[in-house]
Amino acid sequence: MFRKIETKLTVVYILFASSVVIVLGITSSLSIESYLKAKIKGELTREIDFVVFALKEYAGKGIENLDNELKSLVIKGEQRITLIDKTGKVIIDTDFELPQLYKLENHITRPEIIKASTHKIGTDERTSQSTNVEYLYIAKKVEISSDEPYLKDLSFVRISIALNKLNSMLSDVRTKILFIGILVLLLVFVLSKWISYRISKPIKKIVEDLEEFRKGNFDHRIQLKSKDEIGLLADSANLLAQKVSDDIKELDRLSKVRSQFLANVSHELRTPLFSTQAFLETLIDGAIEDPSVSRQYLIKAKLNLDRLSALLNDLIDISRIESKEMKLSFRYFNLKEFLSQEIEKIQVLNKQQKTAVELISDQMYDPQVYGDRSRLSQVIQNLVENAIRHNPDETSIKIKFERANENVMITVEDNGLGISEEHLPRLFERFYRVDTDISRESGGTGLGLAIVKHILEAHNSKIEVESKLGEGTRFSFQLQMG
Ligand SMILES: Nc1ncnc2c1ncn2[C@@H]1O[C@H](COP(=O)(O)OP(=O)(O)O)[C@@H](O)[C@H]1O
Ligand SMILES: [Mg+2]
Repeated sequence: MFRKIETKLTVVYILFASSVVIVLGITSSLSIESYLKAKIKGELTREIDFVVFALKEYAGKGIENLDNELKSLVIKGEQRITLIDKTGKVIIDTDFELPQLYKLENHITRPEIIKASTHKIGTDERTSQSTNVEYLYIAKKVEISSDEPYLKDLSFVRISIALNKLNSMLSDVRTKILFIGILVLLLVFVLSKWISYRISKPIKKIVEDLEEFRKGNFDHRIQLKSKDEIGLLADSANLLAQKVSDDIKELDRLSKVRSQFLANVSHELRTPLFSTQAFLETLIDGAIEDPSVSRQYLIKAKLNLDRLSALLNDLIDISRIESKEMKLSFRYFNLKEFLSQEIEKIQVLNKQQKTAVELISDQMYDPQVYGDRSRLSQVIQNLVENAIRHNPDETSIKIKFERANENVMITVEDNGLGISEEHLPRLFERFYRVDTDISRESGGTGLGLAIVKHILEAHNSKIEVESKLGEGTRFSFQLQMG
C-alpha cells in the first residue's frame, strides 16, 4: 500500500507528542494533588494543636462552653472537629449536638484512629456515611492532664475536612492540563505537517524530474537548492543522467561510424566485383575469340580480383583487431636485423627498383626491441608500400631508428609529394584517402594506416605523421627496448 512520507511523519510526531502530553498531564495532575493534600494535612495538624491549646483554656468552663467554642472554630459542612476518648466514644463533635452524641457509633475502628493509636498521627480519606461527602480525616493522639471528668479519658482529637472543594479544584486543574495538552497537540500537528511538507517537497520534485529521465529526456536537470542528503541525491541523479546522455551520444556516434563503415565496405567491394563481371561478360560475348584482347581482359579481371582479395584480407585484419580477437605474440628481437629483412622483402616485390629504400642508423646502436614481429612487419610494409605507391618513381625512402629515452624511435620517411595539412588528422581513419581514385588504381584499400594505427596501439605505441606538400612525409613510432 502506498503511504506518503508526509502522512508517516505526521503520524509519528502526533503519536510521540500525545504520549508525552499524556504522561506529563497525568504525572503533573497527580503531583499537584499530592502536594495539595500534603499541604492540607500540614494545616490540619497545626489546627489540631490549636484545638488542644483551646481545650486547656476552656476545659474548666464546662462541656457546653467547650462545645460552643469548637463549633465556632469550624465552617459547618466543610470542617468538623471530633473529640474521642480512649474507648472510641465520641465526647464532642462539631457536626452534632451534645445530646445526640449517643447515636454515633463507636469510633475506635476508624482507620485514622487505629493509625493514630500506634503512630500518634493517622489519616484517612473516605466518603462519610452520614453526609455522603468525601472527607479527609486526620487524628492525633493527645494526653491532657485535666481534672474535668469529661476530658479525663480524652485520647484523640480528629479534624476532618470536606474534599469536594479540593476535588473540584483538582478537576479544574485537570481540565486546564487537558486544554493545554490539546493545544500542544494541535501545535505539533501543524508543525509536523509543515516539517514533513518541507521534507517531502524536494522528494516529490525529484520523483517528477526522474519521470523526465524515464521519458528519455536526459538533458533535463534536477534543480534543487538544498545542500542536504536530498541535494546529494539530486546531484547524483543529475550525474547519472549526464552519464547516460553521454553514453547514448557515444552509442549513436558508434552506430553511425558502423553504418558508414558498412556503406564504405559495400562500395569498395562492388567496384572490383562489377569490373570483373564486366570483363568476363565482354569475353563471353565474343572478345574471347580475339587472343590479343582476351589476354588483356583476363589480366584486368585478375587484377580486380586481387584488389578484392587484398580488401578482404585487410577487412579481416581490421575486424579481428577491433574485436580483440587478434592475439599478439610478444618477443624480444634484433631491430637492425628485422628492418634489413623488411627492406629485402620490399626489394623482392619492388622489382623495378625505381624507388630506393635505405636503412639508416648509428653504427654502434644495435638494440633489441619487444613486440610481435610479424605484426610489426605488417606496419613497416604498409608504411613503405604507401611511400612507394603514393609517390613518383624517383622518390627515395629512408628507414631510421634511434634511441628515444627508454625506447627506440623508428621513422619511415620519404621525399615525395607530401600530404596537405588538412588531411593529416583523418589519415588513420578507415577508408580515408587523400585521393580515392589514385589510391584504388595503385591497389590501395584505404585500410593500411588504420591497421598500422591499431597494431601500434596494441604495442602501447602511437603513430605520428609529419608532412609538407612538395617535401615529403615522415611516419614515426616508438617501441619498447629490450
Ligand atoms: N607516404 C605517403 N605519401 C603521400 N601520401 C600518403 C603516404 N602514406 C599515405 N598516404 C595517403 O594516406 C592515405 C591512406 O593510406 P592507407 O590507409 O595506407 O590507404 P591506401 O594506401 O590504401 O590508400 C593514402 O590514400 C594516401 O593518400
Ligand atoms: Mg596503404
